[in-house]
Amino acid sequence: MAIDGPAGAGKSTIARRLADALDFVLVDTGAMYRSVALAAMREGIAFTEGERVGALARGLVARHALSFERDQVLGVRVKLGGEDVSDAIRTPEIAQGASLVSAHPDVRAALLDLQRQAGEGGGVVLEGRDIGTVVFPEAEVKFFLTASPETRAKRRHDELVAKGQTTSFEQTLADVKQRDAQDEGRAHAPLRKADTAILVDSTSLSIDDTVKQMFEAVKKASQA
Ligand code: DC
Repeated sequence: MAIDGPAGAGKSTIARRLADALDFVLVDTGAMYRSVALAAMREGIAFTEGERVGALARGLVARHALSFERDQVLGVRVKLGGEDVSDAIRTPEIAQGASLVSAHPDVRAALLDLQRQAGEGGGVVLEGRDIGTVVFPEAEVKFFLTASPETRAKRRHDELVAKGQTTSFEQTLADVKQRDAQDEGRAHAPLRKADTAILVDSTSLSIDDTVKQMFEAVKKASQA
């Protein structure tokens, strides 16, 4: 199953709920880009240095330095070279860094194999930006989950405040809009709905209702 969509549409929570309900493995591809951004920052490589970040990503994949484990509370626990970076990758700075490093074709190529390997056996929910268009265009069920920028920014802002981070709603909204523009505007694997993906707009839906609607669509697809 492929779930794509912009930042803050509720993808992570919903992908986790659907994976639990179906007893599927969950693959958070955004966490892969975030881990590469964190590694670049620590190495002093600018997010915009495509070739260097690409070489870094290839090295991390070759050394099996990125690992992902299911976690009941966090959804996915992320390790970089054995270190738990699950919290370190969830900052606004790394979100922005992930969006920038993900624009480089070398970085995308390095992570594509990892994503395809994770999904090839089936029984997997992959969430990201280009799962239905590039990574698994043949996925059995594809969703494009979205919501208005204001709704997504409000959810993101509430999450950040709950974590004790001090940022204004206006700043969060500006970040969301900037990330949309970058993710949709890049030349390689831009964020867009696959023609065959089911559009789900969660602007005025609760998480429960969104999951219910998607679960019904999955049932229908598996009966077809
Ligand atoms: O879903 P997220 O916020 O963790 O993703 C962080 C960034 O990673 C996002 O702004 C764009 C990039 N990304 C991508 O380009 N392709 C994916 N399949 C997943 C994420």
